[in-house]
Amino acid sequence: MTTPEDICKQVETLRRALNQHNHQYYVLDDPDIPDAEYDRLFRRLQKLEARYPDLVTAESPTQRVGSAPADHFERIQHTIPMLSLGNAFSDAELLDFDRRMREKLDVDEVEYAAEPKLDGLAVTLMYENGRLVYGATRGDGTAGEDITGNIRTIHSIPLQLIGQDHPQKLEVRGEVFMPKAAFERLNQQATEKGEKTFANPRNAAAGSLRQLDPKITASRQLDIYIYALGQVSEEISTHHYDTLNRLKQWGFKPTPLTRVVKGIDELKTYHEDIEKQRNDLPYEVDGVVYKINAYSQQQMIGSVSRAPRWAIAHKFAAQEEMSVLEDIEIQVGRTGVLTPVARLKPVSVGGVTVTNATLHNMDEIIRKDVRVGDAIVVRRAGDVIPEIVRSIPDSHRARDPLFEMPGTCPVCHSAVQRIEGEAIYRCTDGVYCSAQCKGALKHFVSRKAMDIDGLGKKMIDQLVDRKLIETPADIYELDFKTIAGLERMAEKSAKNLLKAIENSREVTLVRFLYALGIREVGEATAAALANLFSTPHFSTLEDLMQVEEERLKEVPDVGPIVARHILHFFNEERNQSVIRKLQEALKIDYPEKTTARLPLEGQTYVITGTLSTMSRNIARQKLMALGAKVAGSISGNTTALIAGEKAGSKLAKARDAGIDILDEQELEALLQHNHTDVTRNHSGYPD
Ligand code: IVH
Repeated sequence: MTTPEDICKQVETLRRALNQHNHQYYVLDDPDIPDAEYDRLFRRLQKLEARYPDLVTAESPTQRVGSAPADHFERIQHTIPMLSLGNAFSDAELLDFDRRMREKLDVDEVEYAAEPKLDGLAVTLMYENGRLVYGATRGDGTAGEDITGNIRTIHSIPLQLIGQDHPQKLEVRGEVFMPKAAFERLNQQATEKGEKTFANPRNAAAGSLRQLDPKITASRQLDIYIYALGQVSEEISTHHYDTLNRLKQWGFKPTPLTRVVKGIDELKTYHEDIEKQRNDLPYEVDGVVYKINAYSQQQMIGSVSRAPRWAIAHKFAAQEEMSVLEDIEIQVGRTGVLTPVARLKPVSVGGVTVTNATLHNMDEIIRKDVRVGDAIVVRRAGDVIPEIVRSIPDSHRARDPLFEMPGTCPVCHSAVQRIEGEAIYRCTDGVYCSAQCKGALKHFVSRKAMDIDGLGKKMIDQLVDRKLIETPADIYELDFKTIAGLERMAEKSAKNLLKAIENSREVTLVRFLYALGIREVGEATAAALANLFSTPHFSTLEDLMQVEEERLKEVPDVGPIVARHILHFFNEERNQSVIRKLQEALKIDYPEKTTARLPLEGQTYVITGTLSTMSRNIARQKLMALGAKVAGSISGNTTALIAGEKAGSKLAKARDAGIDILDEQELEALLQHNHTDVTRNHSGYPD
């Protein structure tokens, strides 16, 4: 028989294992188990916690997105002020800094820790007894905002430190940032929805960290690098660099690019090195930071009110330049969205020649009032697509008229439609438009989808233009002869490509659903849809293709608009036939069936009166999604009556029968309390 101690042990073991795998994945960037295996462990823990709610703790890996939305952030006073940094914009200013340090310390050479300067937001994280107690923004340096709920959603931040030898009180500081890829994805989604895009990853990170609902923050894929200590209850080390190494052992993530450097030449070399790598780094850096390595020397130098005197930020050259807008062309994307692209007079920005820049959409063109022939400012931020910042019209020259979006698709000449209330224009031809067809194929083979290495943009263009493939299913019919016959395709590459196609045949359901490229179905929604297959009613893709709207809307992450896109996709005969062919060609790994009971299984509710925050129907669906039955009238089986405003005879009847009565707030509490959610975008979910 399983004893309560056995259960406790199981839960503990699962948590420790999951924390360890999470650390390998998000901090060390070196996954040690397949995603599907992680997912199985995660679900096992979820099931145990659902069955024994008393065992749930705030540090459990299942609780990253646990906090309810807030209506404001509380202020948090910093234990020690969060300082800023002085800047050096040239080698001369850097030389000056190093000379001051040498003179004050009376030494010939100073040892520094050199780190990249990350372009994100400073945060502070407080740990007591190894547990994260709060996370706050920098604010004005003396007090910031309590953003604990949001901080907890960042997977590279430990909720519980590894090992036992950490100080009882440990405050660490670092920079939260949005990786370039996540930024691009977020803006792409915003463009698709006709929403405002973020100007750069920094703004996107700031916007994401200041969300009142942690669920939104969780979907933004933020990351962190730790670079300093705040308050600590005992000394960790005598040198900054060693401190970072200790922090690493406890589960934190300092940047792997930190080095110890001595003397001005090594400082300059480090700056050059990082500037060279700048565009290839997966996140944005706007310079490097040098900090005197020995704390004793830092203390001798001291700080001025806002910044330490023992550290300096050595900035990189500006990433903005002037050019001329020569033309505006239209690109057609995977879902038919027409994006205006600026063709520029070639200009070197931060060492890279830029000839194209995105103009996002028509609203942006109007807002920035950019016209062909104008002098413009173009900005490049790492490998993010360059964008036009503003135009500088010449007052002595007659300007071109404002650009107009074409009435027909420049690729397939079908009608273009502007959707009411959205900033975007769309080609109406669907996958028959070769631009959309190519876009869909590129998405299908991309790394987070089917991950077919070697089937790049040029290859797909060729295959489609030569009418060798049209749909994703056709990829699996390609043979060696066809592939080897393509331009620039050596025998070895053809073999490799065939192998990559073969390897992609075995795929998780999540990746497969994501790969289909259904509008608005990103990685998280694909994962939520795949979860349907852990319930008894979904076994094959046919079941999903016939899913009813009501059932779809019960899926977390799926609102009415997304539901409509999904239904529309599955209703298209062409899509159905592609899916059936793919089902033949692939070996899809479906999620395991859950046997765990839903939290409200066996309970029966009756709803009466008017609810103010949701319709009765929604309340019904939410209860049913948690396993409850919802009946039309009170009976001996009724668990409780949910009574809104103006409840009538049912309320009286329930009172008479001594049945529990819940008001709307209590209903909310019941729903919240029993809400379970997959919090980690892992597990064969692409991310
Ligand atoms: S140390 C005691 N290190 O730059 C010094 N800051 O301009 C505190 N930043 O507020 C900062 N990368 O947000 C430090 N490797 C790094 C950094 C870094 C980025 C940010 C940080 C700070 C701002 C100062």
